[in-house]
Amino acid sequence: MVSGKIRKRAEKLRNEIHYHDYKYYVENNPQISDYQYDELMKELKELEERYSSLKIPTSPTQRVGGAPVEGFPTVEHRVTMLSLDNTYSEEEIREFERRLHRELPGEEFEYVVEPKIDGVSFCLIYEDGFLVRGSTRGDGRRGDEITVNLKTIRTIPLILREKVLGRIEVRGEVYMIRSGFLRVNKKREKDGENLFANPRNAAAGSLKLLDPGLVRQRPLDNFIYVWVESTEARMPPTHLETLKMLKKWGFKVSPHLKLARSINEVIEYCNEWVEKKEGLDYDVDGMVIKVNSLDQQRRLGSTTKSPRWAIAYKFPAKQATTKIRDILVGVGRTGALTPVAVLDPTPLAGTTITRATLHNEDEIRRKDIRIGDTVIIEKGGDIIPQVIKVLESKRGGVEKEFFMPTRCPVCGAKVVRLPDEAVARCIGSSCPAQLKERIAHYARRQAMDIEGLGDKLIDHLVDKKLILDIADIYELDLSTLSGLERMGEKSSENLLAQIEKSKSQSLSRLIFALGIRYVGIRGARILAGNFPSLEDLSKASEERLQAIPEIGPRTAESVKLFFQEERNKKLLQRLREYGLRMKEEREEKRKTPLVGKSFVFTGSLEHYSRDQAKDLVERLGAGATGSVSKRVDYVVVGKDAGSKYEKARKLGLRILTEQQFLKMIQSFSAEY
Ligand code: IVH
Repeated sequence: MVSGKIRKRAEKLRNEIHYHDYKYYVENNPQISDYQYDELMKELKELEERYSSLKIPTSPTQRVGGAPVEGFPTVEHRVTMLSLDNTYSEEEIREFERRLHRELPGEEFEYVVEPKIDGVSFCLIYEDGFLVRGSTRGDGRRGDEITVNLKTIRTIPLILREKVLGRIEVRGEVYMIRSGFLRVNKKREKDGENLFANPRNAAAGSLKLLDPGLVRQRPLDNFIYVWVESTEARMPPTHLETLKMLKKWGFKVSPHLKLARSINEVIEYCNEWVEKKEGLDYDVDGMVIKVNSLDQQRRLGSTTKSPRWAIAYKFPAKQATTKIRDILVGVGRTGALTPVAVLDPTPLAGTTITRATLHNEDEIRRKDIRIGDTVIIEKGGDIIPQVIKVLESKRGGVEKEFFMPTRCPVCGAKVVRLPDEAVARCIGSSCPAQLKERIAHYARRQAMDIEGLGDKLIDHLVDKKLILDIADIYELDLSTLSGLERMGEKSSENLLAQIEKSKSQSLSRLIFALGIRYVGIRGARILAGNFPSLEDLSKASEERLQAIPEIGPRTAESVKLFFQEERNKKLLQRLREYGLRMKEEREEKRKTPLVGKSFVFTGSLEHYSRDQAKDLVERLGAGATGSVSKRVDYVVVGKDAGSKYEKARKLGLRILTEQQFLKMIQSFSAEY
């Protein structure tokens, strides 16, 4: 039994932490130091640890309460989540007003104009002031219940700041901040994962993650923009007042709302934001114009698709007109040929654009893009500009149609396009362009980590035919290297030492380094965990591969194909001869009591990067994973460890400091 006093204390702590979360995250106005905040949190956690009945779902400790989930349940929206009609010009905004006057003749209208956040819409339900459910829009009628993920967003209140009885439902937009988006993509690039095209996709992808621990690491935020339902609390008579009230209750509401008393004011505010939006750290793709009076909103009603009382005004996309000088074809690591338009340099949204992707041949045909064409290019939320359309009236008859080369522009080998693929590929087994990309990938920090083997040097080595295959890296010697441009004796020696060192990299790194399609770092780790040697992996059937959780049919097929190819067989044979470590050393494994154990590393370690630490334990027969669960045996805690540490404590897992971890490793392995 928990005494009343302790219960009260826990409640007080929860309220204080909610208050400080609000001040810090929503208002950007911290009231206490981080240290003081941590002390409050610590005390609450300890109480909850001791008395589990205190651990309620809306406690601030539960922002990442949940373990990874299998999937999300579907929930029905009581009020359909509608979309908005789009307008693109001042004239269309005026037409909106004329329509309103036709619907409600003789009435005056006030409007609220607000930024249209380019994110993912979501809804939240509170009962008696407690967050009980959060979900995605889905098809408007049914969405996914993603409460655990939404709770990780610190600006979403778990408890409202005032007593609000009954049930209320609010809706808004989750978005990823721009600066955070760049960070996330940088990390994904390093990890060999596909990049998100824009912050909206990144936000959508993040909310779909099944592990709230990972969602928490994504820089997500939200704005609430509408209050849709209330069973008991009385809604004020205007939209602006509802938002003010929601703000008072702790929701994050856009600070850029404008009450406009005429359509001219609406248009003026929309125009103001065309430039202003660039100053925000989140994407805004237009403005939303809403009739302020809720009574008028109700009488105007909705069509099946969208409300009649609101429209979106979409900003003109960041477009420019330019000319296609040429179309070049790049060759990637897997031989994929990508046509790229070389443009007359054009300033657009802060940068000078010289290239635009054309994706593939079908896309070029569809848009009928020709060399010499004048085109409109657009930089949407995406990183690489796109060619939107050709200005056919500007054609002078000299434009040239583009054909995908039938031979690789770099090596001259045949180019093939499989019937079910949009991509054409060079099948040349020694294509220098592919080879350069493959070597660069092989040497990457996350792969074999050969420092000093950079792009420039790779260009030299391949162009001078000193390297014809990955395995040739291990044939390089001092006289060859030091004879190259800008390669002194010292740097050559260093490089050779790095190359030598790479021979003992872990199996998972080697698998990743081979550049098998669809096998990223994580996939490589999973494969290495399931097959003790590269030889075993090379013999695995597709069925066997597919039976591994997280290895899908596409990856299984790709792995199989990789090992079937003659040239890859030869490559592996040669790597073996150069003495690369192609298996996890079983001998070593048997000796260590760590075989089969599972580690999680959290926080920053002083002596190793996290990847190095993962390699270390893998060599000793253990595995490393990213998420804390009951199945984890040890959690190694570095500096500034956060939620994983908390979760590990909650689950009662063995927690090691870095020092303890090092000691343990040293005692098991003479090497370290
Ligand atoms: S109001 C009944 N306000 O834009 C419709 N929507 O293109 C309620 N959006 O589905 C929408 N910012 O996801 C509204 N300030 C804002 C918005 C906003 C972004 C999104 C929302 C909607 C989509 C329509």
